[in-house]
Amino acid sequence: MLFKSPPDIRPSEITDQAVYLDRRRFLCTAAVTGAAVLAAPQLASAAVSLGEIKPGPFSTDEQPNSYDDITSYNNFYELGTGKSDPKVNARYLKTDPWSVTIDGEVSKPGTYALEDLLAPHAIEERTYRLRCVEAWSMVIPWNGIPLGDVLKRFEPTSRAKYVAFTSILDPENLPGQRRSVLDWPYVEGLRIDEAMHPLTLLAVGLYGEIMPNQNGAPIRLVVPWKYGFKSAKSIVRITLTEDQPPTSWNLSSAREYGFYSNVNPEVNHPRWSQAKERRIGEFFKRPTLPFNGYGDQVASLYNGMDLKANF
Ligand code: MTE
Repeated sequence: MLFKSPPDIRPSEITDQAVYLDRRRFLCTAAVTGAAVLAAPQLASAAVSLGEIKPGPFSTDEQPNSYDDITSYNNFYELGTGKSDPKVNARYLKTDPWSVTIDGEVSKPGTYALEDLLAPHAIEERTYRLRCVEAWSMVIPWNGIPLGDVLKRFEPTSRAKYVAFTSILDPENLPGQRRSVLDWPYVEGLRIDEAMHPLTLLAVGLYGEIMPNQNGAPIRLVVPWKYGFKSAKSIVRITLTEDQPPTSWNLSSAREYGFYSNVNPEVNHPRWSQAKERRIGEFFKRPTLPFNGYGDQVASLYNGMDLKANF
């Protein structure tokens, strides 16, 4: 990526889990009375409400980062390359109406308004670690639905080997897309078994509130055992493919960013070590865990693969 070295991270306050749970209870009640949209801060105009959120599997009980940290220290190049740019420029992302096209190797392709895409699914809470390739990390209480459950509705064919994700293209409104820092739109991809894995989430909110624009509203990918850049934001198209799809950072610098991008403390980025990370809000670095700590769940997906060659 464009940065030269892992950035300094400011220590900051961490929201107490109890405060979040209290707030979430309040929001769930508010949703019942139809007032959730008024209660949540920083809302854009997305036509989706989270409704009741059920606890999901795989959540870490580590302390989540504060709402403020999670929404003010971001990578979202469509809204600028600085960490504080996405929040400052958040208003330029237009999220209502929003539709998602699912096509390619599926028996039932289609374009769905976001609310219709979500309707059959219960929104879950999954508190995951996010490890950025720049060697910082956060713990984020996401709200979303397993990507695999969505894909199954569209009936992938036997030729579907990969899943390609395309983010919004709107250079008229998105200031970052008027500069050629990346080839727009942002594209990412997963192998089909990675996409179907129950850890892989399509997130539509965090901390019980609809997704703030700077975090990839209204719908983004979260793949917690991979570096953060695999988690494409503001998705408009999901295409199942027979061939491995191109990915933005690999197109930008193939030497630095591979297709797999599994968190791996033993494979350094060519310009810095990946052995340690700084959790936002903490002073001392901590060791980075293989697969970001999700090895028990996902290591078997890569049995027999050379993970240094397939970085
Ligand atoms: N998706 C799009 N469309 N554009 C981006 O610039 N940045 C990626 C990823 N998804 C990015 C994106 C990177 S580098 C990271 S680390 C995560 O989003 C950051 O997610 P966060 O800001 O919610 O922490």
